[in-house]
Amino acid sequence: MRPLDYKDGVLKLIDQTRLPTEYVTVDCRTFEDAARAIRDMIVRGAPAIGVTAAYGIAIGALGIVTESKDDFFRQLDVICNVMRNTRPTAVNLFWAVDRVLKKALDNKNKSIQDIKDIIVMEAYRMDTEDVEVNKSIGRNGNELIKPGDTILTHCNAGALATCDYGTALGVIRAAHDSGKNINVFADETRPYLQGARLTSWELQQDGIPVTLICDNMAGHFMKAGKVNCVIVGADRIALNGDTANKIGTYSVAVLAKENNIPFYVAAPVSTIDFDMKTGDGIPIEERKSEEVTHIKGIRIAPEGVSVLNPAFDVTPSRYVTAIITEKGVVYPPFDTNIRKLKQT
Ligand code: MRU
Repeated sequence: MRPLDYKDGVLKLIDQTRLPTEYVTVDCRTFEDAARAIRDMIVRGAPAIGVTAAYGIAIGALGIVTESKDDFFRQLDVICNVMRNTRPTAVNLFWAVDRVLKKALDNKNKSIQDIKDIIVMEAYRMDTEDVEVNKSIGRNGNELIKPGDTILTHCNAGALATCDYGTALGVIRAAHDSGKNINVFADETRPYLQGARLTSWELQQDGIPVTLICDNMAGHFMKAGKVNCVIVGADRIALNGDTANKIGTYSVAVLAKENNIPFYVAAPVSTIDFDMKTGDGIPIEERKSEEVTHIKGIRIAPEGVSVLNPAFDVTPSRYVTAIITEKGVVYPPFDTNIRKLKQT
């Protein structure tokens, strides 16, 4: 299942705001369309927004009309900045923008048309690479799963959040496909309900046994011995292993430690921010209050109530058992072991 598909200057996205009740797609024909799709969460999930930004830049670059190389790069810079300003937490977005821009600059001696083609090719390469990376994460993570395990996950780190296959759900897919008879508990993930709307739908599509629970039920099931491990995705991992992920992940990690349950983070190396020493510096997106006061447009809280809506939290690395990447499973001490990923 792919949430995005690029062809001839048009990026088609599954509108994830409408799932699971409606399956509709949205066409992005301008870079502004792609930026809006990220901001409005038509597409979401760290790797998927990174690749959407890359395609958005490609679409923007194709639309630049100029004979001057300086002007081309000036306009390209503007487009890149629009992409950078869509969402602040997932580092994959910034990684993707920087990678596309660097590719263009490395080829600045070529013709403008050639540079445009190179940008499109780079976005396409990132798209296909992401799928391979997720399959490697799946294979590496599968080693940690025992037959019959019940795995709890939070938010949606699945095919819908990537270019296909998923990270946390990639491990779950690999375990399922290898016949381990696993079960999944999907946290509903208030307020945006990625678990209820997206993870349970995505797993159902693939016939993977999934049970939807409310966020506040996780501790109950852990204490009852019904959860063997937790696997979540990540939006940004600091050098010391502190991990930003969907709001509520921190609570799940604390509960897992209290109940002696392994807590795994599954993420590509592109989710590691090698410039960020600890999680304290990770910017946390604050989203609009209506996401908390309303469900599907229906008010559930009194008018005028004060609301806070941070979209992510940071789990301190002491709660993380291991980080599953495409390059292998990384264990503590994260300070030294994460740095090694940059060199390999
Ligand atoms: O706000 P979202 O839906 O973009 O948040 C998504 C998450 O927090 C995911 O767990 C994370 O991006 C990893 S996706 C492979």
